[in-house]
Amino acid sequence: MTLTHDPTTAAAVDPGPLVRLTIADCAAKVLHSAVALGVFGVLAEAPADADHIAAETGLHARMAADFLDALAGLGLLERTGDRYGNTPLAQAYLVPGTSTYLGGFVELTNETLYGTWGRLTEALTTGAPQHLDPDKGGFVGDKHKDPQKMKRFFAGLDAYSDRMGVELAGRLDWSRYSSFVDLGGARGNLASVLVKEHPHLKAGVFDLERTRPLFTEHVGRLGFTDRVEFTGGDFFSDDIPQADVIVLGHILHGFDTDRRRELLRRVHAAVNPGGRILVYDRMIDNDRSNAERLLSSLHMRLVSQDGSEYRVGDLHDWLSEAGFTDATAEPLLGTHTLVTATR
Ligand SMILES: C[S@@+](CC[C@H](N)C(=O)[O-])C[C@H]1O[C@@H](n2cnc3c(N)ncnc32)[C@H](O)[C@@H]1O
Repeated sequence: MTLTHDPTTAAAVDPGPLVRLTIADCAAKVLHSAVALGVFGVLAEAPADADHIAAETGLHARMAADFLDALAGLGLLERTGDRYGNTPLAQAYLVPGTSTYLGGFVELTNETLYGTWGRLTEALTTGAPQHLDPDKGGFVGDKHKDPQKMKRFFAGLDAYSDRMGVELAGRLDWSRYSSFVDLGGARGNLASVLVKEHPHLKAGVFDLERTRPLFTEHVGRLGFTDRVEFTGGDFFSDDIPQADVIVLGHILHGFDTDRRRELLRRVHAAVNPGGRILVYDRMIDNDRSNAERLLSSLHMRLVSQDGSEYRVGDLHDWLSEAGFTDATAEPLLGTHTLVTATR
């Protein structure tokens, strides 16, 4: 077969999208470094010039103008004269210490993405996950052996679960239920947000025993020690506490299909009759056309042995096989899908 190349056709196709795609990670790295250097915190109160920002963050003079103007071009800073200020987007989500801070998630992606995605080609050809060696500065591998890494991992997740909790608090008529368990609820952040919004709820977190110290510290700091109970165990082999509502956030994507179905059967047995299951993940649309969700799925394949995202329709099948009814799916925070069903 002879391959023909028609330069006329090629010239008619704008190569711009390709060029932008090949350098897309540069933009992400500019954001990650701005968070790491604390740029948005420096500008939280008032705009400042490059010299002031450099003095506060350690930014080198040779890099400063291009870096700050790039941040402006990316919609994170706005420049007026020689002064830079946070845009509303950066002010809302990137100022440390605020309740809407998403910087923990930015740090988490920076830490987990670059090493592992750098080995994507190996993963694609070998099929093997690319956990980094923790001794070489990796993160994903045995993070639970390092409490500081575990803490950063949970802090990154909580940047989401703060908003997720407020969102879930409004998605269900919680007055119909008296208890819930957040399965794999980590250090209890989402559970704390939910009981804050709905004080009548009896709240539980079920997670591995090794998570207990982080839970005790975090929930204690939030002042909900008396309101949220921790049960340590393995949700594949230990009893899952009974509750009216059981939440599974970022859980099913960590396991293969058989394990997901097994877990959903166990959850069905633990939900009180008439109660509900809530599942959220970055699920794949049924047409498998949403690139963001597919990238998320590839990420799970890179960082775990069996994990991946899964189609909404597949989850509906597994839920009904486990005995749940009336499954419905809805978008959540523009990044996730929430599926709920009734026992
Ligand atoms: C990806 S994190 C999700 C945390 C939280 N649900 C969220 O969305 O932010 C997964 C959680 O499940 C817990 N986990 C993993 N395997 C488990 C098991 N077999 N039994 C109980 N908890 C488990 C982990 O310790 C971790 O806290």
